Amino acid sequence: MAKIECPKCGEQIETTGIVTVCPKCGADLREVVEALGHERNERMKTIVRDDSVTTHEFIVRTRGLKKIYVMGEVEVLALRDINLDVRRGEYLSIMGPSGSGKSTLFNMIGGLDKPTAGRCFIEEVDMAQLDAFELAWLRCRKIGYIFQTFNLIPVMTAIENVTLPMIFAGMGTDEMMERGRELLTLVGLGDRLDHKPYELSGGQQQRVAVARALANSPAIVLADEPTGNLDLHTGKEIIDLLKELNQASGVTVISATHDLKMIDVSDRVVHIRDGQVERIEHRHEIELEVGGMGG
Ligand SMILES: Nc1ncnc2c1ncn2[C@@H]1O[C@H](COP(=O)(O)OP(=O)(O)O)[C@@H](O)[C@H]1O
Ligand SMILES: [Mg+2]
Repeated sequence: MAKIECPKCGEQIETTGIVTVCPKCGADLREVVEALGHERNERMKTIVRDDSVTTHEFIVRTRGLKKIYVMGEVEVLALRDINLDVRRGEYLSIMGPSGSGKSTLFNMIGGLDKPTAGRCFIEEVDMAQLDAFELAWLRCRKIGYIFQTFNLIPVMTAIENVTLPMIFAGMGTDEMMERGRELLTLVGLGDRLDHKPYELSGGQQQRVAVARALANSPAIVLADEPTGNLDLHTGKEIIDLLKELNQASGVTVISATHDLKMIDVSDRVVHIRDGQVERIEHRHEIELEVGGMGG
């Protein structure tokens, strides 16, 4: 975490960029925080190339990823030794029964939790080497998240939910509203901008979440069981939407699921069981299997 000094009382304050007043003397810290943000943005741009044409073949790599949850005396080995390379632009599904470690893997790749051992690289940046600010920067700009339970902010309208990540990325208001409208239109909700989540169906809420995930034009969309709370038909619509976005914009989609509908749209399916990769199926193998079953 970065430290800033209060210009008034000299207090040293730890911040990830969210503090706006000095907790000691109440002085306005926005300018100091902004300057820190600027300095660190510049530094991050040298660590992560901030353009969409980076040449790394693999957008995500994990090496020897292991996660043990400790609950009192009990240890749960959630991930054993995950080595995974995800290509730029790929649509990858992580399949496995409940409790196999899908969400744990998702959280490691998304930088939402830290592995017990092993490494995870996003565009060849080792996430373990980043401090809290840098990690927040990477997450905000490089990764969009979609969850089973939508996780929209209930008091905010659709467009407010979608533009929230843009505020964190420092986008101006006009540009933000324009982009919010565009994204909601893209997911078929151009006429629902001012609806709050409870005024939308489950499928529509997940569309808002998809639009929010795309807010800062991420390189990767991580979806954890995005169809888990939706009926069959609505689930299929969300999958098709993710596939369309993947094909149109080249965004890499990594989706944890136990929904077999995902198989059709995936370039590869990684089957995990008991925290280990059991097997990896490629698109042409999947097509062969489907063909084989039909005739
Ligand atoms: N925060 C946690 N604390 C302790 N154990 C956990 C935690 N999260 C997950 N687990 C355990 O880790 C294993 C993998 O869980 P998870 O990654 O959620 O699986 P999946 O998403 O495939 O259902 C399970 O045995 C689960 O009970
Ligand atoms: Mg899960």
